[in-house]
Formats: sequence, C-alpha cells, structure tokens
Amino acid sequence: MTLIETVADLRAWRKTAGHVVFVPTMGALHEGHATLVREARQLAGKDARVAASIFVNPLQFGPNEDFDRYPRTLEADMAMCEAAGADMIFAPAVREVYHPDRSIKILETSLSNVLCGASRPGHFDGVCTVVAKLFNLVQPDEAVFGKKDYQQLAIIRRLVRDLDIPVVIHGIETVREPDGLAMSSRNRYLSPQERAEAPTLRQALLAAREAWLSGVTGTSRLLSLMRAHLAEHARLGREDYITLVDQQTLQPLDIARNHSLIALAVWFGKARLIDNIELSR
Ligand code: PAF
Repeated sequence: MTLIETVADLRAWRKTAGHVVFVPTMGALHEGHATLVREARQLAGKDARVAASIFVNPLQFGPNEDFDRYPRTLEADMAMCEAAGADMIFAPAVREVYHPDRSIKILETSLSNVLCGASRPGHFDGVCTVVAKLFNLVQPDEAVFGKKDYQQLAIIRRLVRDLDIPVVIHGIETVREPDGLAMSSRNRYLSPQERAEAPTLRQALLAAREAWLSGVTGTSRLLSLMRAHLAEHARLGREDYITLVDQQTLQPLDIARNHSLIALAVWFGKARLIDNIELSR
C-alpha cells in the first residue's frame, strides 16, 4: 500500500491507476471504516485500485466543535486500511489541500437545513467543498459512504448530480457493535455509564420500525414512542433531534410511509451520537 501526502504525488499516481474506488475518511478509523474499505475492495475486484483519504477537514467543524481534539491516529489507520485491502492512502496536510487565501466554497441550500445541519450551520458546506476537492484530486470512478451519516450521503448524491461529477456513489449499511450501537469515532468520548446507555438509540429506532410495521403510521405517535423509550432508558442522553423524513428530500413527513427515514441525534456528555433507520417494506 502506498502513502501519498502531496497533490503532486497524487496526480502522478492517478495517471497510471486506472479504475479507482474511493473511500474518503477523516481517520480515527474503526471497524465501520474497515467495512467501507472492504466494500470498495469488492467493488474494485482485483484489477481496479482502492484509494482512501485520511484528512480531518477544518471546514466542516464549527468554532465550538472538536476539530482540535479529533483523534489523529495515522499509523493505526494505515494498518487498518492495508488489512482491509486499500492500495493507496492520501493523507495530506491542511496546507496541501487549502490555499491560505482560498475564497471559493460550495453551498448546499436545501438538504442541509434539517437534521444535523440545523444545529451545525456550515457543516455540510464544508463537507461538500472537501468532497468536491477530493473528487477532483483523486478522480475516482466510484466512491463509498456509510449510511450512518445518512444526511451526508443524501447531500453527496445531490452534489454529484447537481455539479455533474462523474462518480458513482454507493451507500453502505451502518456497522454496529454487538449491542447495536452504531460505530463512530466519537464513541470513544463516552464515559462507561454513557456507553452503557448509548445502545438505547438503536433500540428506540427498532421499536419505532416495529410499530410502523404493525400499522402505526402517525409520525407524532412514532416519535412519542421513541421519546418515551429514551426517557426511561437513556437518562444521560439529551435529545438534539428525533425526526421522520423522506429518504431523498429529507423533508419531515406527518405520516410514515415506505421509504421514510427516522433519524436522531442525542448528546451524551461531549459526544453527539447519530443513528437512523430506513422504513421499507
Ligand atoms: O464522513 C466523513 O468522515 C467526512 O465527513 C468526509 C466525507 C470524509 C469529508 O470530510
């Protein structure tokens, strides 16, 4: 596996790489990321290349967010990528990616006003800007993203559609701990007590889906059921949002139907955990 740290070396690598399947990450990799790389390997087969990037993107962090304390674990990340089948890691410094006098960014004006975007102003503009830049740099044919960040995935699909970026986007199922907690780099911020309560998020989502499958369709009833579950079992949690939306437009729905999504974000101490569940028959 090759480590590339500069744009010049990346451009040289790209000239001979052929078909590339790309996994953008911010590092601090866990089994969820390893699954993305393994999926990319599957998609690439033995002839195409699998590239991953490791770049903590300052543009997508708000002033009071965890950019400075976001874990940087390059050695371990590289070992995990190599074991999962990556051929190349692009791990540039911030100055390699952003010019000090940069003055262009990408604004997303619809899908990012809801869910996580509502409490993280500018976050998805930062994501769109870096993903567009990474796509321009790596020039992948395909890219994989996890469904845990469902809003990010929907926005990236919109990004490539609206800007005619010729990259096929694949959404990959969320990877979970044995007790159901969605894997996340931020789980390491949880205290033992918070960690013990965190799987409740998944349980509340499953309970809502169960209720929907057995005929409850009113959004307010489904969300009340989830809130009651969390109030009882996640006493340390503080709701940021719990909502039911359309899977593509992310607009809130009064009635749950096929292809709806229930998504939530809950604070546990310093960690803001997100999860979601697709309603599909
Ligand atoms: O999901 C992430 O890790 C990041 O948002 C991404 C897509 C790598 C952009 O920085």
